[in-house]
Amino acid sequence: MNPPRKLHIKSYGCQMNVYDAQRMVDTLAPEGFVETASVDDADLVILNTCHIREKASEKVYSELGRLRVVKDEAARNGRTMSIAVAGCVAQAEGQEIIRRAPVVDVVVGPQSYHHLPQLLARAKSHGRALETEFPVEDKFGFLAAPSAHAIRARGISSFVTVQEGCDKFCTFCVVPYTRGTEVSRPVTKIVDDARRLADNGVREITLIGQNVNAYHGEGPDGRAWTLGALLHRLAEIPGIVRLRYSTSHPRDVDDSLIAAHRDLPALMPFVHLPVQSGSDRILAAMNRRHTADDYRRVIDRFRAVRQDIAFSSDFIVGFPGESEEDFLATLALVTQIGYAGAYSFKYSPRPGTPAADMREMVAATDMDERLVRLQELIDSQQSAFNRAAIGNTVDVLFERSARNPGQIVGRTAYLQPAHVMASPELIGQVLPVKIESLERYSLLGRLAPPPEARSVPPVSAMTPAHLVASSQTTMGA
Ligand code: 5AD
Ligand code: SF4
Repeated sequence: MNPPRKLHIKSYGCQMNVYDAQRMVDTLAPEGFVETASVDDADLVILNTCHIREKASEKVYSELGRLRVVKDEAARNGRTMSIAVAGCVAQAEGQEIIRRAPVVDVVVGPQSYHHLPQLLARAKSHGRALETEFPVEDKFGFLAAPSAHAIRARGISSFVTVQEGCDKFCTFCVVPYTRGTEVSRPVTKIVDDARRLADNGVREITLIGQNVNAYHGEGPDGRAWTLGALLHRLAEIPGIVRLRYSTSHPRDVDDSLIAAHRDLPALMPFVHLPVQSGSDRILAAMNRRHTADDYRRVIDRFRAVRQDIAFSSDFIVGFPGESEEDFLATLALVTQIGYAGAYSFKYSPRPGTPAADMREMVAATDMDERLVRLQELIDSQQSAFNRAAIGNTVDVLFERSARNPGQIVGRTAYLQPAHVMASPELIGQVLPVKIESLERYSLLGRLAPPPEARSVPPVSAMTPAHLVASSQTTMGA
């Protein structure tokens, strides 16, 4: 038998890329590849790239420059190292990558990972291989069919892709071009994946997709199911105690999703719902197809059915034409909603997107300054949210042993890491934890007596009063 070949994957960007990296590992395992954390002894290095924000392709080219040195060194030692570029930069740049970086053996777009073994073979015989088409065959179907291609359980929490691509065409965003049009996986395939993961110890599933709540996969009844219906079905699977989904678009929040939050205790009360801006003028220029008030109303619909729900969001500052007044509207929205956390980015023009042709660029100094102001506000909300957990008893799903001996770590409903001194045998269980202190972003606590023995209310006590109150002030506004 041949010795295993070593595979090193460096992943950038979103959770979809993390998931795709795992799928690449699973696809290459039958070819004798095992993962290695080190680039130097790898037989195959894959850069799983992201194109969503600034200078992504330049970063890839400088990384490839460094890899050329490593590859040359391997060759001097009589080893062959192959280099593949995957992900959205591969999709966007295609042949250009091989032209600019001849060190690359394989270029593979996000729709073609299941062809990696054939592409590597082709690169071996022809010197290079490139595939950045959107093939008509069902990528998900291929990966789900033989068990060797299905995603392996890795620990307690797992991602499952339910849809890919986006038809929204926000004017700043490359996703509709790099990931293509919106495609949903059929319900039965997702249920099969979830069942298999649960049988292998997974307790929490996060459904992922670029626009996950646009999900409309075919159900066993032949009809298109909503994300809410899918969540209801997944909640029936024994062993799955927590469900999440990401990333949602405010326009695609329908009644079935709200009902899922009302009806399913397994569905965690923490929703990532990007708004990007609080200014209607900018939202229109971004082609978001909703106003700031529409967004507030969506938030209120969630809060009406789950008092303890918390939100995170994405923001872009310095979109072309953004005035100080527009930016103040964003700050006002953040203040009103009250987030448990959020990501904020400086606008960066993405080649080929409509916004890249907009002329009214915001000065770099203004962008920097706005980003600092927005991040300060978000940080203060996040800290308040985390501090509010101290003294409460909250449910924690334990995921692994911590670095400190004797400690295990899990996550609260709001994805806050929580550390306790306890036996690793508890990994995989959801247990009440009395939170005693906060260390940076981690909660520290101790196992609490079971629910019947305590008088403190559970998770719902975690949402700080000001965050709940903010929904009431916006109600009907
Ligand atoms: N510039 C800055 N941020 C962007 N994002 C997407 N495209 C751009 C861009 N061109 C951000 C959005 C999105 C997140 C994933 O990345 O906030 O929600
Ligand atoms: Fe990009 Fe999200 Fe807009 Fe789709 S909805 S175009 S993924 S920002």
